[in-house]
Amino acid sequence: MELDLTQDQKEIQALTRDFATAEIEPHAAQWDRDHHFPRELFGKLAELGLMGACVPEEYGGAGVDFLSYILVLEELSRADAGVGVTVAVHTSAVTLPLLAYGTDEQKSRFVPPLARGEHLGAFALTEPEAGSDAGAIRTKAEPAGDGWTITGAKQWITNGRYSGTFLTFARTDQATAGARGVSAFILDADHVRVTRDEEKLGLNSSVTNDIVIEGAQIGRDRLLHEENRGFRVAMTTLDGGRIGIAAQALGIAQAAYDVARAYALERRAFGHRIGDFQAIQQKLADMSTEIDAARLLVYRAAWLKQQGRPHTEEGAKAKLFASEMARRQTAEAIQVLGGYGYTKEFPVERYYRDAKITEIYEGTSEIQRLVIARSILGLTERTLAVKS
Ligand code: CAA
Repeated sequence: MELDLTQDQKEIQALTRDFATAEIEPHAAQWDRDHHFPRELFGKLAELGLMGACVPEEYGGAGVDFLSYILVLEELSRADAGVGVTVAVHTSAVTLPLLAYGTDEQKSRFVPPLARGEHLGAFALTEPEAGSDAGAIRTKAEPAGDGWTITGAKQWITNGRYSGTFLTFARTDQATAGARGVSAFILDADHVRVTRDEEKLGLNSSVTNDIVIEGAQIGRDRLLHEENRGFRVAMTTLDGGRIGIAAQALGIAQAAYDVARAYALERRAFGHRIGDFQAIQQKLADMSTEIDAARLLVYRAAWLKQQGRPHTEEGAKAKLFASEMARRQTAEAIQVLGGYGYTKEFPVERYYRDAKITEIYEGTSEIQRLVIARSILGLTERTLAVKS
């Protein structure tokens, strides 16, 4: 068993941390306040190879391993979780499934512009009446000529307004309810119309949109994987995506801990540094322990994925624990800072707001528990697991 990062992994971690410290962290509070999406930043990240870190070089990426990419997400999220989710969805939820399921033609056409950061990717699965129950989607793909006409509405689409490629799920078999009649399609920006910019509790430097698809005409070249087998594309994409969101939660928690620790060593009360009091020491000890535990779960899941081994259960465990830990420990960081923690003078209130979403998107904590329970109990019947 080897718990050290490799030299290459350490280098990309350091590169991302240096970039994030210089170019992201100093602006994060302002971007949060202004709800500013830093579009220009993604060009700079692309120059460093970070918009396609784990994409093979032949497709325009940096060709590093999946764990290195997870380290990138952790470091970006430590500086600004909105930047973290933008890169996570772009890569894990769009570029990687195109690589995994695309034909040679689809890979060489759609992947390089994404990996080079020329445009962003969005994952269009969720609908107003299909969130946790993703198999309930109603967006239709009806046969038309040699392809399909796609019509429907999608909700909470990260990167929607700035995206050039939408991995979109639609029902191709109208007679079959649930997951079995769904297919995956690759749409462009001109196939969709953005109808709403969501106002959120946090993550204000990322964009979240409602979109509509109004009779988009597409050919067979836009079908990803087999017809009516798109739900598998969605599920395996989320298996990997959840490791990225777990890394995002980990980065946010690490940032909150760093501020709380520094504050505890400086702030004085009752004639001592507050870090000299056991009440504060115990909080910091718990924070540090839980962050370590989350990190091990996240890196294990990433390692399994990069070995090509099953990682559904391990990814769900990593996301479940890291996201709930981040919510708990960002709240504790506010507590360490007391009144200052509740103000905008320090970033911990932002970390707290940003952490909350990690328990919700790419599958709520309740869905992660369902996935874990199915795996450990060997349940395959949908009804059994959903009802239990
Ligand atoms: N890998 C491969 N295949 C899988 C799979 C997996 N992990 N999980 C399910 N499947 C397959 C099943 O084998 C089954 O295949 P067959 O039809 O061939 O038998 C098919 O998919 C349907 O599976 P289920 O019957 O298990 O499906 P279900 O309807 O019970 O749903 C669920 C399962 C786990 C609840 C699923 O709906 C789910 O994950 N829901 C949460 C959705 C989610 O995470 N949404 C996130 C939106 S994206 C987002 O948040 C991105 C962002 O912007 C940040």
